[in-house]
Amino acid sequence: MNLKSLIRDVPNFPKEGILFRDMSPLLQNPEALDFVSKNLVKNVDLAKIDYFAGIESRGFILAAHMAATHKKGFLPIRKAGKLPPPTQRVSYALEYGSAEIELPLGKGNVMIVDDVLATGGTLKAAIDVSHAAGYNVEAVAVLVNLTFLNQMKFKNAEVMSLVQY
Ligand code: PRP
Ligand code: MG
Repeated sequence: MNLKSLIRDVPNFPKEGILFRDMSPLLQNPEALDFVSKNLVKNVDLAKIDYFAGIESRGFILAAHMAATHKKGFLPIRKAGKLPPPTQRVSYALEYGSAEIELPLGKGNVMIVDDVLATGGTLKAAIDVSHAAGYNVEAVAVLVNLTFLNQMKFKNAEVMSLVQY
């Protein structure tokens, strides 16, 4: 399936000079969503996964769809201050300034999912906060990897993705 044809390029959004990759057309296509949910776990032993953990906000959509497709639980990795306690929080650096994410304390094996991997700061923080909250991170995957912005590895392998730029 040609996923790139379902990702719309929006120049100069959200800021001048940024080329935004908009996955809305893909989300509006049920066959494509089904394809994504199934192919992002191609190299994953599903028997080892308890939860799909989505990174707020666009990661929620994919992780929740994957949880439903594969009959697993869903976990929200949220921007700080939105979840009731007990939670674990980590800070991480952005290009300008910093951000915080958190998730509920718990245990079990998670697969972390996000829409886009850019510099890798968000995904790294999601892995760190999952460990700190008590989970084992079994796998990570993104729909789109902007490979020119990162050299991110997970368990010494390329991060699973279905579209690369
Ligand atoms: C975008 C994208 C990833 C993150 C990738 O999210 O959805 O989560 O940036 O960037 P990085 O690899 O450089 O950390 P954003 O924080 O813009 O928020 P959103 O998902 O709520 O739209
Ligand atoms: Mg995001």
